[in-house]
Amino acid sequence: MHELIEKICTRHAIRRFQPRQLDEGTLSEILTAGLYAPSAGNNQYSRIVVCQDKEVNLKLGQLSRYMMFKGKDPASTAHSISADQPSIQDDFTILDGFYGAPTVLTIFTRPGQYAHDDAAMIAENIMLAAHFLGVGSCYIGRTEEVFATGYGMEKRKEWGVPDDMLPVCNLLLGYRDGPEPHAKPRKEGRVIRV
Ligand SMILES: Cc1cc2nc3c(=O)[nH]c(=O)nc-3n(C[C@H](O)[C@H](O)[C@H](O)COP(=O)(O)O)c2cc1C
Repeated sequence: MHELIEKICTRHAIRRFQPRQLDEGTLSEILTAGLYAPSAGNNQYSRIVVCQDKEVNLKLGQLSRYMMFKGKDPASTAHSISADQPSIQDDFTILDGFYGAPTVLTIFTRPGQYAHDDAAMIAENIMLAAHFLGVGSCYIGRTEEVFATGYGMEKRKEWGVPDDMLPVCNLLLGYRDGPEPHAKPRKEGRVIRV
């Protein structure tokens, strides 16, 4: 296997982070990889907000967890997502849906046909670049719901994000705490050769 492919296959969602912050050079390289992602028609409309404010990330992470279980019994959503790096669906005692990550990104794009595609391109570039540089990452959904709350709206205004932009996803970045997680086996039969 080519070493790059091997690297891609050893990226895993990381949810246990050391408190130490990313150094600026590493963060800058990771963000450059995100900016070089393709965009529909080369629109380059996306914005990546980088938040390293502990209090803000905790509040947004708590809202993200709340949105996951809103109106549901957490036990009914129980999953076996990761034993090594448990998610909020594996362990209900985790109250921060951002898992204490020291750096949290929010990707905003222009609403429309390709909004989610553009954001996902950036997200994957960022997660792979992070992994190549020894930084753990995790993709987090429900971002639109989090930023539709009063606190979320207040923050995006404070950050100067244009009102017409759509918050698509959060990405957590930080150095992994604990051993490298085991790879999750991939299901068979997902490639259809015709
Ligand atoms: C669209 C999307 C939403 C996700 N949302 C969450 C989330 O809210 N919380 C979380 O802990 N992980 C989330 N993940 C990470 C997945 O749980 C993880 O990628 C999956 O379990 C596969 O594990 P791996 O990334 O280690 O291969 C999300 C991933 C994707 C692609």
